[in-house]
Amino acid sequence: MIPGNALAHSDDGRGSPVVLLHAFPLDGRMWDAQKEALAGNHRVVVPDFAGFGRSRDREPRASLGEHADDVAELLSWLGIERATVLGLSMGGYIALAFARRHPGRLLGLGLADTRAAPDSPEGRAARDQNIDLVQREGIEALVLRMLPKLLSERALPDVVLRVRALGTSQSAPGASAALAAMRDRPDSTSLLARIDAPSAVIVGSLDTISTPIEMRDMDGRLPRSELTIVDGAGHLANLEAPDAFNAAVLRLCARASAESDRA
Ligand code: MLT
Repeated sequence: MIPGNALAHSDDGRGSPVVLLHAFPLDGRMWDAQKEALAGNHRVVVPDFAGFGRSRDREPRASLGEHADDVAELLSWLGIERATVLGLSMGGYIALAFARRHPGRLLGLGLADTRAAPDSPEGRAARDQNIDLVQREGIEALVLRMLPKLLSERALPDVVLRVRALGTSQSAPGASAALAAMRDRPDSTSLLARIDAPSAVIVGSLDTISTPIEMRDMDGRLPRSELTIVDGAGHLANLEAPDAFNAAVLRLCARASAESDRA
């Protein structure tokens, strides 16, 4: 039974826990291939953030910090004290908020196709335009505007259809609240140097939202990071190149769980 205030989630497998945090405007279903690859050796928890997926009827959150607190609360409810937290894009912003607010609960940190820097003034203005679009024309219009940036030109047709279907199934209020929360997120650049858990930076070589150059810089600031550039994949690298992506996540989980065994 899920308590009234816990996020909807899946919980599969046994072993060192790993939590996968989804991108915008998607939900936990984007991680299906990673769940399958990890659940043989790990306990894999995949939440839907408030306002998304099966948590769509929860009050949307005003800040990414609140989303991170929801994840911490879910882990507590599941009896998990520490976990490897991996987020892609918006999920990565929330993973960084988790690292800031709950540092003692990190077994490992995975940052995929995401950014530590805040939105630029142009980026903030684009968020406002997207909020306006979703409120006036609905979620499908937003997804169609975003699709060319979410996937590379090489993405297979079934991946494009999947992203479109996941995106258009989200709610307009959940999406506009998340756009505002992303617009207002703080600069996490200086936090990176303080993260002492094993970490991984993973980026599609063709990602134009969080570019390999920017992610290389993040990798350089993290004291214990391993960088993986997923060749030929765009922003949603886990969907475009699941095998290479999964291999990088498995390496991170192995490092994190070896360290917790030693502790
Ligand atoms: C995402 O994939 O979560 C979003 O593209 C992130 C963003 O718009 O900054």
